[in-house]
Amino acid sequence: MSREIIAILDFGSQYSQLIARRVREQNVYSQICRADITAEVLSRLGVKGLILSGGPASVYDKNAPKCDEKIFDLDVPILGICYGMQLGCQILGAKIVAAQRREYGRTTLSILEKSDLFANLPDSITAWASHGDQLAPAGIKGEDDFVKLATTDTCPFAAVRHKKKKFFGVQFHPEVSHTPKGTLILKNFLYDICGCSGDWKMSDFVSETVEAVRRQVGDAKVICGLSGGVDSSVVASLVHKAIGEKLVCIFVDNGLLRRNERENVVSTFRNHFHMDLRVVDWSEQFLAGLAGVTDPQQKRRIIGSEFIKAFESQALKIPNAKFLAQGTLYPDVIESGSKDGNTAANIKLHHNVGGLPAEMSFELIEPLRDLFKDEVRVVGEYLGLPEDIVWRHPFPGPGLAVRIIGEVTPQRLEILRAADEILIDEIKSARLYRKISQALAVLVPVLTVGVMGDERSYENIIAIRAVETVDFMTADFSQIPYEVLGIISNRIINEVRGINRVVYDISSKPPATIEWE
Ligand code: XMP
Repeated sequence: MSREIIAILDFGSQYSQLIARRVREQNVYSQICRADITAEVLSRLGVKGLILSGGPASVYDKNAPKCDEKIFDLDVPILGICYGMQLGCQILGAKIVAAQRREYGRTTLSILEKSDLFANLPDSITAWASHGDQLAPAGIKGEDDFVKLATTDTCPFAAVRHKKKKFFGVQFHPEVSHTPKGTLILKNFLYDICGCSGDWKMSDFVSETVEAVRRQVGDAKVICGLSGGVDSSVVASLVHKAIGEKLVCIFVDNGLLRRNERENVVSTFRNHFHMDLRVVDWSEQFLAGLAGVTDPQQKRRIIGSEFIKAFESQALKIPNAKFLAQGTLYPDVIESGSKDGNTAANIKLHHNVGGLPAEMSFELIEPLRDLFKDEVRVVGEYLGLPEDIVWRHPFPGPGLAVRIIGEVTPQRLEILRAADEILIDEIKSARLYRKISQALAVLVPVLTVGVMGDERSYENIIAIRAVETVDFMTADFSQIPYEVLGIISNRIINEVRGINRVVYDISSKPPATIEWE
């Protein structure tokens, strides 16, 4: 696959992924690289341009991240954002100093030059900035080499262009939504300055990937652990499109699933998409292993090792199975990003198949490794997966076991399944399902007193958790309207035997996690 690539050198900015997204939204493929990637590797990648991200350091810190200075000789345009601007300017001879006043938040950018980066923009725009350092004011060494493109009240060089090199620097953040014209600035950079034509499209991605999988697999068989979540479902559909019946999907019923989950997966993938889907019912083994266990870590260990046994019991029966397809996404690749841009060797394995034993050594197929989660959903829609799968909230590998505090028993699982179904049903009815990133019910087996009719009750608690998040690393509790919470609570208490109290979890992550165990 040869396509236009913009490399984003990551200096530790919380926005690096956002920059990558913004570039892709302009139909240009972007790849996040380590800040110290060499000019030689970048040249081999054939990049059309570079973006140097922001970052928390000061360029004059002893351990400040640097880049290979030879990137400025590559003759491709470079856009430095915030720290990236300061570093680029410093390397090209300018001086960076601490600003008299830190610039944080919305600021007004006065545009002085509209020939390239700011083409088609008004004379002034709102921009979002967050910096304590800046390019030194006029008269200081290096100034003659730069053209001032824009300025703010506190920052005389809010945007610059180098006079000889194709280097542009912006002190603000064009990638964030608080810079409303930021998209246009990036578009100018990508199309007019780097000369991109915009060859990154989802339909091309699907056909190229299908072709690549077909070539890679040849006559062998591919195994895919299907959980019914969006990532594994999209992987299975893509690979199935490529090689049809040579794909074997394995679905492990661990007895810790939500109501009707197994039936839905079977009906979608076996009956609708006609895939070779093998269901391994290992629920008895999982529940037997979990009997009497209350420690969360111990529960996870048991579930992990039973999963391997269950998976293996099927996988070893499939002759000529050489490949394992899994849903590694782009953020997983970035997390383990290697210096030379070749991340194949050190991608973290998916939670659930992370510990496959040595005799089951497969070559990996990871068709989603270039995609962000929302791009995966677009591919899923394109492939005709049902909306219910494409937009499904994440569900952890250990399933309901980490949503039952203490011991997991069949009775507790039934109570939780009933409460979970009501919760999701009501959230969908209130049209909140897509707004909320993840909603779940937790069974807290602490008995409290209530009244049911004229009778005293002494029953368990259900806690409702709903969060909004972009990356699941941090999350805010969702502000579900009280009316909706009221309906959920009433229904659970009235319809689920064993529950007489419902509480709403209002903790953020951190310090609380999303799951309770
Ligand atoms: P926490 O609870 O760590 O969850 O804030 C973050 C996200 O990860 C999911 N999660 C898991 N997913 N296996 C999985 O496949 C696991 O063991 C696991 N633990 C947590 C959780 O549902 C949330 O989306």
